[in-house]
Amino acid sequence: MERPDGIIVAIDGPAGSGKSSTAKAVAAELGYRHLDSGAFYRGLTLAALRAGLPPERWDQLTARTLAGLGVEGVPAASGYEIRLHGAQVAGELRSPEVNARVSLMAAVPAVRAWLLGALRQAGERGGLVADGRDIGTVVFPDAELKVFLVCSTSERARRRLLESMDGTPTPGQIREEAERLTQRDALDSSRSVAPLLRAADAVLLDTSELEFGAQVRFIVRLAREREANT
Ligand code: CDP
Repeated sequence: MERPDGIIVAIDGPAGSGKSSTAKAVAAELGYRHLDSGAFYRGLTLAALRAGLPPERWDQLTARTLAGLGVEGVPAASGYEIRLHGAQVAGELRSPEVNARVSLMAAVPAVRAWLLGALRQAGERGGLVADGRDIGTVVFPDAELKVFLVCSTSERARRRLLESMDGTPTPGQIREEAERLTQRDALDSSRSVAPLLRAADAVLLDTSELEFGAQVRFIVRLAREREANT
């Protein structure tokens, strides 16, 4: 069998559409591993900021400099843990500083080329749910199941804030967060290399009014159908 551990499920979508949490839950349900590709771009961004590399020069990064940043994705029980020079950094990957710069890092062609091999390797045996912006178009164009998540900007902003704060976000906070998400979406969609794009054969899923469990069940059901047909 070409993929002894199962099929590949690719989940793409804009910032805050719930890709990572959905992918993680789908992977757990299927007994697959989860690959959060955004975490790798976040790891490189954190490492470059810590190393004091000026963001205006990130477009000159080479494979050698990137390797020197010491970012690696270590296979863990159900996914990949991002380490920086061997140390765990999970909590810092989603900081406001990283959020603000990660799209700049992700737009650098050398960065994407450098990560592509590592991301593809994670899918060699199949049995993987991978999420990101270009999983169904560039990383795993032959994935057996591709899902493209969309959600209204204000609902994405509301969900993002609920994750990171206590209590209910105010309409003003939701507007500000929506503005940040819109800026990142614009950068991710307009870059020349691997922009955020729905693959022609991706199933479109609007989660604006879907409850989390329902969207997970929907994808798991499709994945089981595709598993049975391969
Ligand atoms: O969770 P959220 O959607 O906010 O972000 P993420 O999935 O952690 O990705 C962070 C950033 O990494 C995105 O805004 C993209 O700029 C970049 N990214 C990418 O370019 N390609 C991917 N496959 C995954 C992430």
